[in-house]
Amino acid sequence: MLDQVTKVHDESRQGEAFAPEATENQSYSKKFYIESYGCAMNFNDSEIVASILNQEGFGATRDIEEANLILVNTCSIREKAELTVRKRLTEFNRLKKSTPGLLIGILGCMAERLKSKLLEEEKLVDMVVGPDAYRSLPALITEAGTGQKSVNVLLSREETYGDISPVRLDNNGVTSFVSIMRGCNNMCTFCVVPFTRGRERSRDAHSIVREATELFDNGYREVTLLGQNVDSYYWTSADDSETVTFPQLLERVALINPLLRVRFSTSHPKDITDEVLFVIAKYENICNYIHLPVQSGSTRVLQLMNRTYTREWYMKKVERIREILPDCGLSTDIITGFCTETEEDHQQTLDIMRFAFYDLAYMYFYSERPGTLAARRYQDDIPEDVKKRRLAEVVELHRQQSEANMKKDVGKTFKVLVEGTSKRSDEHLFGRNDQNKVVVFPRENFKKGEYVMVKVDSCTSGTLIGKAVQ
Ligand code: SAH
Ligand code: SF4
Ligand code: F3S
Repeated sequence: MLDQVTKVHDESRQGEAFAPEATENQSYSKKFYIESYGCAMNFNDSEIVASILNQEGFGATRDIEEANLILVNTCSIREKAELTVRKRLTEFNRLKKSTPGLLIGILGCMAERLKSKLLEEEKLVDMVVGPDAYRSLPALITEAGTGQKSVNVLLSREETYGDISPVRLDNNGVTSFVSIMRGCNNMCTFCVVPFTRGRERSRDAHSIVREATELFDNGYREVTLLGQNVDSYYWTSADDSETVTFPQLLERVALINPLLRVRFSTSHPKDITDEVLFVIAKYENICNYIHLPVQSGSTRVLQLMNRTYTREWYMKKVERIREILPDCGLSTDIITGFCTETEEDHQQTLDIMRFAFYDLAYMYFYSERPGTLAARRYQDDIPEDVKKRRLAEVVELHRQQSEANMKKDVGKTFKVLVEGTSKRSDEHLFGRNDQNKVVVFPRENFKKGEYVMVKVDSCTSGTLIGKAVQ
């Protein structure tokens, strides 16, 4: 079904089970199995959960059969994301029948949205834990173990888990996420996130720099700073003596070591400033890549979405990025068939795509989410077949553009950070260039975590292929 089209996309990363080698090797008396859905922030939250559970004597396992505790960290962004989780929960419940004492917990955005409904009405889980309540997991597990209802979905204005060192799950030892803020204060009318994640709050800048430094010391060579709206990061120390903005934070992380690459996601077009662009330009290790979700190319629709920028304003922002960062990779998110979208609005979306010429786009048709401003204010009036046809047109244009963008890079030489062995061949390594494009090349004697200059001689729709050069 054409619900979304992605390559490797945050929101499409579904159902990956995690268990880090390190914790698997240690002897824990109890085991937990965790599956994560949704955005990178949710995946990073699972690493915080793993850390909290390790302290409680629970080790991670990839083998669901040996788990005493199954956790599903969920996403509510579109209806399909929730349906996938419900299916999984039903499967886990079957397992529960044959495994005495097995507990099932739901974490994340769906837990927050549905609260105790999954526990009381549908009896699908033993525990419901919202995104700001992970510190209470040990108590909730004990409670659920005695057969009581175990729920904590309180949202917090302060919680950032800043002091908890995430246990890296499913890691390649080279690239890692670092959450810098939580929640979102924007009220895009289509979006459930402000309701499931609560108010925006920024994490202590020192704890962010400390975490990134530790990662570097442990051999990691790339960090991606995460937030729903990173450009509005603003941290004030408890005694008000120190404030840190996003460009300042970016600079502090870049200064840890020139060999540590820095990425960030997501930028709201209204908040990314020239100052951020100049910091990116100043430091070679801050990647030339910006994810700048446009959502729609029509000013009228953008207003209904409460995105607070116009088509022209967005286009100027793109021009400014190209001016200050001529080699910058650009990606976006697009929603087709939002309430009242006309054929003309849709044409304007295609048109803004022609203008921005995105390297990567995450494309969806509109999925009404209960409780959002759009659900309350507007009618979801575009028929599903029209939404999907428009999505197909957006996807096709993107395919053509991305192909052209890949071909443009043939003949060029890029600095590639090696992430591991290519999926297709043991003889090849893969990594990414500055602009976030995947590059594959013969292994020779290169290793994971090294930077290699690669000259590109061909490409597929998603990969640049080349050979190392001196
Ligand atoms: N904070 C990010 C986006 C987070 S959600 C930002 O502001 O850009 C990721 C993407 O999911 C959004 O950019 C949007 O394109 C899509 N999305 C969010 N709600 C949706 C909905 N109700 N239906 C379809 N797509 C949606
Ligand atoms: Fe949702 Fe808008 Fe916040 Fe992004 S900025 S998380 S789309 S409300
Ligand atoms: Fe999904 Fe929640 Fe992230 S709704 S996209 S997991 S913030």
